[in-house]
Formats: sequence, structure tokens, C-alpha cells
Amino acid sequence: MTLAYFNGKIVEVKEPVIPIDERGHQFGDGVYEVIRFYNKKPFMMKEHLERLYASAKVIKLAIGSELAELEKAMLELVEKSGLEDASLYIQVTRGVAPRNHLFPQCPASISMTVKPSRPISEAVRQQGVKVLLLEDERWKNCYIKSLNLLPNVLAKQEAYEQNCFEAVLVRDGFITEGSSSNFFIVKDGSIQTAPLTNYILPGITRIAVKAIAEQLSIPFIEKSFSPEELFAADEAFLTSTNCEVLAVTVANNCLIGNGQPGGISKKLFAQLQEKTK
Ligand SMILES: Cc1ncc(COP(=O)(O)O)c(C=O)c1O
Repeated sequence: MTLAYFNGKIVEVKEPVIPIDERGHQFGDGVYEVIRFYNKKPFMMKEHLERLYASAKVIKLAIGSELAELEKAMLELVEKSGLEDASLYIQVTRGVAPRNHLFPQCPASISMTVKPSRPISEAVRQQGVKVLLLEDERWKNCYIKSLNLLPNVLAKQEAYEQNCFEAVLVRDGFITEGSSSNFFIVKDGSIQTAPLTNYILPGITRIAVKAIAEQLSIPFIEKSFSPEELFAADEAFLTSTNCEVLAVTVANNCLIGNGQPGGISKKLFAQLQEKTK
């Protein structure tokens, strides 16, 4: 069953619990995370929680709960939902206060939802996905997992309308990441992805993939690359909590490699599956 949580209370997802003056709603003034549970077990929970606290710190938002306390509330919510494979979203905002841009003197709001995870279908995995390259119109602090997702929403919608699964963003002639994923190419047996700067989100799946690449002795190069390098790549793939490792076979209508999911992408996905068992 799907469940929600707002400031200490477990409720039905449909229950109207967010007050109109909530700053997440009014300003997008907050940060969030999504954590996947496989067979009731959270995957890389510690890394997700650390990123949540790091994002909150840079926007000067005091979460008000210790990390362990928050973790307990999350585990309880998933336990109560009875779901085995679930996606838990958590949003922390600067609280509920009359509208004013200045920081309010009130506790942070914490909301969560737990829903069944929606795995990528086998058919999509077999085929790989198409992506559309678009200008990265986001701000300069993309390393913060902020609730302000308007440029990401617009880019993803544009990609969808052009029959693509994901928008891949280009800033100053280089690919940064997807609208909700990190992005990688494979060339001559090496994996390449944008380095961790303020222009990309430090993905948790990216950490897992880097560790797998090391285990498999596949070179993992953190260096920006251009759309031309993508078009000339042997393989491409994206990573995220929701998509795990997903092969990209077409970019701007150009086939990547032979237009089939590549061997390294498949290996990384298989290894990631082992870790989530
Ligand atoms: C912009 C962006 N980049 C990358 C990612 C992938 O991060 P993770 O692997 O932690 O899910 C996401 C996930 O939501 C994202 O929104």
C-alpha cells in the first residue's frame, strides 16, 4: 500500500496535509531524496541521507532531526507500507510560515511518500532508450538536490514530446547530465562521465557504477565530453535510482555504436542487480 508522512504523522497519500503556506509549495525552498528499497532493504541509504544533509547544509536549512532519527522514520514508513520493492521520496523544506522570501523562524517540514517502485520494463532494457540533447538551462548549483526542478521538468517534457526517454543537457558545449540521471559514454573500453562539479548532481548510482567499474578493471574517466564525442561513442548509458543502469542507443536520432545496448552497459547493470539482491 502507498503511504505518506508529514511532520511525524503517517497518513494516506491522498490526504491533504500540506498547508498552503508551506515553503516547499510556495518557493520550492527545500531539498529532497529518493531511495529505492529492494526486498524491503534500502539501497545505499547512508549515501542518500548524507547527500540530503549536505544539500540542506548548503542552503542553510537545519533539518532539525538527527540522521539516525530520520532513517528510523523512513524504515518505519516502508515497514508499515508492507511494500517489498518501494521508492521512498523525502522532502525537507524551510517549514510553514506566512509568505516572505526571508528565512522564517520555524522548524523544517519533513514529508515522505512510499510507493511501489516502477522498474524499467524488460522490453525497454532490451532495446535501450533514445535521448534528446538540449541546452542546460539550470542554475549553477546543480550539485544541490533542490526541490526547484522546473528546468528539469521542461527538458524532460520536451524530450518526451520528441519521442525520447530522457533529455541530456549541454552546457558550454559539454554534456553535463540527464534531466533526472547521470550520463556516461563508453569509448575503446573506457567509461567516461562528467566530473563532479557544481554543474551536476553527485549521483548515488554513479558511485555504485564507479565501484563496479573498478572491480571489473574498466577504466572510469571523469572528464567532460562533447555531443560529437557522444555521437562517436561505442556505447552510452544513464544512471539513476529509478533507472539503475539504462543503455542509451539513440541520441538526436543518431545511432550510438551499432544501435544496440552495449556490452559494458549490460555488464554494469548485471553487477548492480547483484548488489541490490
Ligand atoms: C539531475 C539528476 N542527476 C542525476 C540523478 C541520479 O542520481 P541518483 O543516482 O542518486 O538517483 C538524478 C536523480 O534524480 C537527478 O535528478
